[in-house]
Amino acid sequence: MPAEARVRIDGTDLTFPAAPDRPVLDSALAAGVRLPHNCRGGICGSCRATVLSGTLDADSSVQFALTDQEREKGVWLLCQAQPAAGEVVVRVHAPLPRQPKAADSRPQTYLCESVATRPVTPRVRELVFALPKTARFVFKAGMHVEVAVPGIEPPRTYSMSDPPGPDGEPVDGLLRFLVARQAPGAASTWLHETLRPGMVTSLTGPFGTFGLPAQVPGPILGLAGGTGIAPVLAVIEEALSGGFSAPVTVVLSVRDREEILAMDAFSRIARRHDNFAWKVTLTREDPPPGSRFITGRVPDMLHRVHGQLSHHAVLIAGTPGFVDSCQARVLELGAEPDRIAVDAFLPASPAASE
Ligand SMILES: Cc1cc2nc3c(=O)[nH]c(=O)nc-3n(C[C@H](O)[C@H](O)[C@H](O)COP(=O)(O)OP(=O)(O)OC[C@H]3O[C@@H](n4cnc5c(N)ncnc54)[C@H](O)[C@@H]3O)c2cc1C
Ligand code: FES
Repeated sequence: MPAEARVRIDGTDLTFPAAPDRPVLDSALAAGVRLPHNCRGGICGSCRATVLSGTLDADSSVQFALTDQEREKGVWLLCQAQPAAGEVVVRVHAPLPRQPKAADSRPQTYLCESVATRPVTPRVRELVFALPKTARFVFKAGMHVEVAVPGIEPPRTYSMSDPPGPDGEPVDGLLRFLVARQAPGAASTWLHETLRPGMVTSLTGPFGTFGLPAQVPGPILGLAGGTGIAPVLAVIEEALSGGFSAPVTVVLSVRDREEILAMDAFSRIARRHDNFAWKVTLTREDPPPGSRFITGRVPDMLHRVHGQLSHHAVLIAGTPGFVDSCQARVLELGAEPDRIAVDAFLPASPAASE
């Protein structure tokens, strides 16, 4: 078996051992080093890195997010590339997330019991899983886990809808998720129709680096499409309960009033924090006269509720189409690229979206 490599992140003191048969990102996470990532499937591109010295190797067919020019310039996706022996020095393209204080946040697999599955809207269920009593699960708001679904590969990814407590663990040992059914989606259909309380499944994580930038100089704007509200609200609740005092606005986009979710959370947070405001926009229904809801796709209505975004930190989560169109719009409205965080709910493989 080839010798283990060592990877160094340029411009930092971060180094970690990397097995030659394992993606560099997995080795980093296993060593407690957090590198930018989202899908871990070669699709989102957030783990891009340039090799400065040493050698990486990957099957080019799994590096979907890279252009030919990037490949020629030595850019790799760390979720897909494995190291050759020796030292490999890489420069990661996205800003490095804050490094965890404790090694406990390394991803692990937990056998979890489903303890509740309730309809929230006709297309969305809230799923609640109990961690094993002795498990330590340390995470940051905005992170996700991979949920194993019997007979379906690969596991699917879902974002925790609650922030952790002050010790970084879930306050009650429970992980909550909002899962939209993506007909004819294999995993979401199973989670909606077959999963029952008392069933045990494995959850692996935590993963992901969605969250606020290290410095938030001004207001926060959260844009969520449907279940994208889960990571957006988790990050915002964590910031507010940590004393964040500048204005925070969340815009939830859903098709019609049947699909509205999280209004109870909006009301609870607004009662506790005067600097929190929320709006729901309907894309396929005109709200009745006098209703508090607004109408239109976020990219079309945003300038009506918000002016320039040059001082804002912006969080965007939802389907890839929602995320792309909102990101383009907030850039037009002046948001700084390094203050925009996106969580694209990409399908498990590009084939699924064909
Ligand atoms: C980082 C991350 C976090 C995520 N968090 C959540 C979450 O909190 N809640 C949640 O509901 N989902 C979330 N997802 C999406 C989730 O992982 C699955 O992709 C989704 O549940 C569909 O899986 P499936 O097996 O049912 O569909 P598949 O069998 O994989 O796909 C079936 C069909 O559904 C379409 N499809 C798949 N996913 C989507 C999508 N997101 N939007 C529109 N069409 C889609 C495909 O194009 C295909 O046509 C997240 C994804 C990522 C990458
Ligand atoms: S492409 Fe590597 S994490 Fe998405």
